[in-house]
Amino acid sequence: MFDINKIFNRVYHSEMRRWSSLMNIGLMYYSRTGNTKKAAETLNEKLQSHTEYVETIELLHEKKLGFFGAARLAMKGEHPPIMNNEVDVNKFDRLIIGTPVWAGRPAPYVYTFLDHNSLSKEIKTGVFLTSGGSSEKQQKTQEIFKENLMNYKLKPMAASLIFQMKKGIIKDGTQNIDTFINELLSEK
Ligand SMILES: Cc1cc2nc3c(=O)[nH]c(=O)nc-3n(C[C@H](O)[C@H](O)[C@H](O)COP(=O)(O)O)c2cc1C
Repeated sequence: MFDINKIFNRVYHSEMRRWSSLMNIGLMYYSRTGNTKKAAETLNEKLQSHTEYVETIELLHEKKLGFFGAARLAMKGEHPPIMNNEVDVNKFDRLIIGTPVWAGRPAPYVYTFLDHNSLSKEIKTGVFLTSGGSSEKQQKTQEIFKENLMNYKLKPMAASLIFQMKKGIIKDGTQNIDTFINELLSEK
């Protein structure tokens, strides 16, 4: 006797693999001192086992700010200039956006990029933050960040990642990467 559930599961999982391996994913981040870059690399390594099409975009500031300059910028809500605005995000099926937390806010370079890129479709988007403090303290930051991204036609997903960092080393947050990737690659 054949088991219809088993057959369904096999077909479903092989279709899921095929679908996710065809997806074009943009992994965009800003990193002032290397922590968010490290987190992006870690995430990218995991993504590579699901899909070949990951394009990494590191947003480049025009001028590197010191600690207080960066804090002031984040609190004032300004969108500072960046050097690489030209990537067309509309080619992506999924977007991942990563940023450090500055004074309880995302570093605003991501907004500068999105100001220059009008989206012609909704894109399902996963968000990751890096911080010095514990992940529990960044919950509000990630909620506000997601709300702001919706103004740019992005569709932030429920799962997000918060990496607590110390000098380029991830202290906490990697345990949630698989759940994040599964939601990102699922069809809905
Ligand atoms: C201006 C400034 C403000 C920061 N504010 C916070 C904060 O509010 N909460 C926190 O946990 N970490 C804060 N941090 C620490 C950074 O979020 C953390 O070190 C981050 O991983 C840096 O990422 P990067 O190396 O990619 O720039 C702040 C760092 C800077 C420079």
